[in-house]
Amino acid sequence: MKKILITGGAGFIGSHVVRLFVNKYPECHIYNLDALTYAGNLENLKDVEYKKNYTFLHGDITEEEYIKSIFTDYQFDSVIHLAAESHVDRSITDPLAFAKTNILGTMVLLNAFKILWQNKWDDKRFYHVSTDEVYGSLGATGLFEESTPYNPNSPYSASKASSDHFVRAYGETYKIPYVISNCSNNYGQHQFPEKLVPLFINNILNDKPLPVYGDGNYTRDWLYVLDHAIAIDLVFHKGVNHETYNIGGFNEWKNIDLVKLLCEQMDNKLGRANGTSEKLITYVKDRPGHDLRYAIDASKINKDLGWSPTVTFEEGLSETIDWYLSNEEWLNNVTSGNYQNYYNKQYN
Ligand code: NAD
Ligand code: TYD
Repeated sequence: MKKILITGGAGFIGSHVVRLFVNKYPECHIYNLDALTYAGNLENLKDVEYKKNYTFLHGDITEEEYIKSIFTDYQFDSVIHLAAESHVDRSITDPLAFAKTNILGTMVLLNAFKILWQNKWDDKRFYHVSTDEVYGSLGATGLFEESTPYNPNSPYSASKASSDHFVRAYGETYKIPYVISNCSNNYGQHQFPEKLVPLFINNILNDKPLPVYGDGNYTRDWLYVLDHAIAIDLVFHKGVNHETYNIGGFNEWKNIDLVKLLCEQMDNKLGRANGTSEKLITYVKDRPGHDLRYAIDASKINKDLGWSPTVTFEEGLSETIDWYLSNEEWLNNVTSGNYQNYYNKQYN
């Protein structure tokens, strides 16, 4: 039985990847390693936790001895690495935490993988899940390609860029078989309400202001999380060693336009008069170093692996809102306690 270690599987994207793999590959054993930081939540995996081919490991990727010991004990064949500190605003207030988890943590995993398998690389793979933010910011035109030079602007994107470089360096130096993917902004069920979409859904539900940074004319390329999980499955199984794949939604939105669409859908679903939620839009101080525009050229994964998004933005957003509306308990649980401190510091 193949043993696959997925890191960060209790988080937003990781939980969708774990669910997909546990259900789709009963012949593989899936180990989910997660430190359960504020962003990790085992509630996200309630429906798979009893499955025979699933094991949860509670641990921190920066703890070298622990990581070496689980690689020795379980002899993982492959790694899909998603664990990270993932929120740009938090990286601005605590950049060292990002360097520790995203850079050091990735190196600790790479080391453990290298020591376990040395040169016996047959059927082994280290898959590093990364972000398009490593490429920096685009102007009004152009797209990020796999060959676009790295030019990160936030401590988050700099730490992810650095981790990508280490994965590549281990590939060159120690011949580790790796693949990397760089994906655009995800949205969907189980996303922690610090990121734009779930934060604004939660604020609309609670009649709180919707804090739009700067003039709201920043552009992101949005992808439904299940389409990202499908892409990860493809890259993991069919991607070519030492290659990078950009993943994106072919779906650019200015923040303010996205927020208006979200407000409209929320008003409809909540039975409120049109325009009610839009009144909550409040322009606030801009994020420092705010990247103007991200947009992905996903033609390589499309052409080489046959991937393209399956869900339109309107459908995906509608599904996402429906999930939050029918999972208020999940939302209340994650927004109690420390969340209030974070929110007050960030927005007041
Ligand atoms: P998330 O913040 O929702 O989840 C991160 C998970 O990692 C959490 O479960 C957390 O407990 C765990 N974790 C954090 N530090 C850890 C540590 N030291 N040891 C073990 N576990 C730890 O993040 P996400 O949005 O699901 O992103 C997952 C990955 O995908 C990240 O690597 C991120 O850079 C990348 N990514 C995210 C997006 C996006 O839009 N969210 C887009 C492209 C790429
Ligand atoms: P975010 O969801 O934090 O993702 P990222 O910074 O990784 O792209 O933010 C998406 C966009 O929304 C980004 O341009 C910043 C903006 N934004 C706001 O205007 N207000 C907010 O409160 C947040 C969290 C984000």
